[in-house]
Amino acid sequence: MTLSNIPKIELHHHLEGAAPPALIRDMAKARHLDISGIFGPDGGYAYRDFVQFLDIYEAATSVLQSPDDYARLTAVILEEAAAEGVVYLETFLSPDFCGGRDLLAWREYLHAIEEAAHHAQAVHGITLRGIVTCIRHFGPDKARETALCAAETAGRFIVGFGIAGDEGAGHPRDFAWAFDMAREAGLGLTAHAGEWGGPGAVRDTLEALRVDRIGHGVRAVEDPALVDHLAETGIVLEVCPGSNIALGVYPDWPSHPIDRLRRAGVKVTVSTDDPPFFHTTMRREYDRLAETFGWDEGDFAQINRVALDAAFCDADTRAEIV
Ligand code: ADE
Ligand code: ZN
Repeated sequence: MTLSNIPKIELHHHLEGAAPPALIRDMAKARHLDISGIFGPDGGYAYRDFVQFLDIYEAATSVLQSPDDYARLTAVILEEAAAEGVVYLETFLSPDFCGGRDLLAWREYLHAIEEAAHHAQAVHGITLRGIVTCIRHFGPDKARETALCAAETAGRFIVGFGIAGDEGAGHPRDFAWAFDMAREAGLGLTAHAGEWGGPGAVRDTLEALRVDRIGHGVRAVEDPALVDHLAETGIVLEVCPGSNIALGVYPDWPSHPIDRLRRAGVKVTVSTDDPPFFHTTMRREYDRLAETFGWDEGDFAQINRVALDAAFCDADTRAEIV
């Protein structure tokens, strides 16, 4: 077994954020949309900082305008992820981008995505599940509508609810109603926090939203008492080191805290977040972790066990994986 073909469990991944630039460029051309400003000279997505990253992300996403577009996107992404050895993937889906939070439209988008996922499972052996995600900088009212879409479609495919976007917008408590609604619908809960915000943001998120997992959460490392709390309570961190380094949260791999958090007993997992935006793939993440921290097959097997235990899918699905 090499690192390449270790069966990988990925828990933190944005569907639109995984769109290959070539696909977005093709779709824009077919629709006569000019989004040339989002690409750099190498043809990849280009941005200066996190705020511009969010703008570029939304501009790329604006090209995806129908359930068929999402079906095509899902097929391409799952083929690529399976080639990286990913056997189970949880992806963030936003009713904001899929039909503007209209329940009927959302159901149509979801149907198209699920069909594509079903096909990919048969052909490539990869299982996809969805986490409905509100966008923090769109505000609490839209988050409520998003939570209603999530609650209405909770089931075998939609297994979780989360929040992404600008961590600086509002306070986690502003979104408590949406998370309460999702919890009542039986969904697993995760929130982006401690990517840009410090340990206080992670504490506030845990208190206000009572999530099972934290997206990123890496800046918890700045507060030893919080690190102990995470270790004791078994809160799982969805760590995306390549994303953090590409966006400038950390300057390089040796300064990334994933290994320190893991050694302190925190349950860490490894994901790509938005792979083409960050010039990464699951294999690259594993290779860099092995090079930087000396992680071996045993370490990655442990990481994947943690990830599978923390997956939001039902027990039958979990039993079928690996
Ligand atoms: N949406 C897509 N990628 C994100 C990230 N890294 N942080 C917050 N929101 C996001
Ligand atoms: Zn993310």
